[in-house]
Amino acid sequence: MQRYQDVLAEILIDSETLQARVKELGTQISADYPEGELLLICILRGGVPFMVDLSRHITTPHMMDFMAVSSYGVGARTSTGSARVTLDLQTDIRDKNVLLIEDIVDSGYTIASVLSMLETRQPKTLRVCTLLDKPERREAHVPINYLGFTIPNKFVFGYGLDLDEYYRNLPFVGVVDLNKYKPSA
Ligand code: IMP
Ligand code: MG
Repeated sequence: MQRYQDVLAEILIDSETLQARVKELGTQISADYPEGELLLICILRGGVPFMVDLSRHITTPHMMDFMAVSSYGVGARTSTGSARVTLDLQTDIRDKNVLLIEDIVDSGYTIASVLSMLETRQPKTLRVCTLLDKPERREAHVPINYLGFTIPNKFVFGYGLDLDEYYRNLPFVGVVDLNKYKPSA
């Protein structure tokens, strides 16, 4: 796999800006959920760094759980329109305040499917917190309750977002130069 420097077109959101916004979101969430059973649900795998950092700024006592959904064909970078749960929750969400944590809402199909699936389990409240929003690509309507940044229609990586599963560890969000990227066989 290439080094990230060789596929990076530009840094879109630097680490300091990300961390400052994540702290603001955590403060806002803490104020909005002063008490009650709060459960953060991280959508694997892209939501991991965001949820970990966000959680440290949420003063409301809360639990964490994880779920995985696949909405993309193997090797594809565009959504297929339907999402399949590949790893379900370990927690019963009935009567809990549930906050879904996502890296990015793109077409919206992933979150829309997860929301309709989780609604049937009768949580007390169900809201969406996403680090990034790419509204130009939206096809399914998704209510976003907490948003980090709105970004243009570019393929980005870092801070949880991957390019063929790599680069999720980068502390910033960068734009990929797809002309320089050479997928390994
Ligand atoms: P949606 O179902 O089209 O909203 O897709 C959401 C998922 O697509 C996200 O959870 C990401 O995993 C992935 N995704 C969408 N845009 C990007 C991007 O620019 N870089 C990396 N992953 C992306
Ligand atoms: Mg992904």
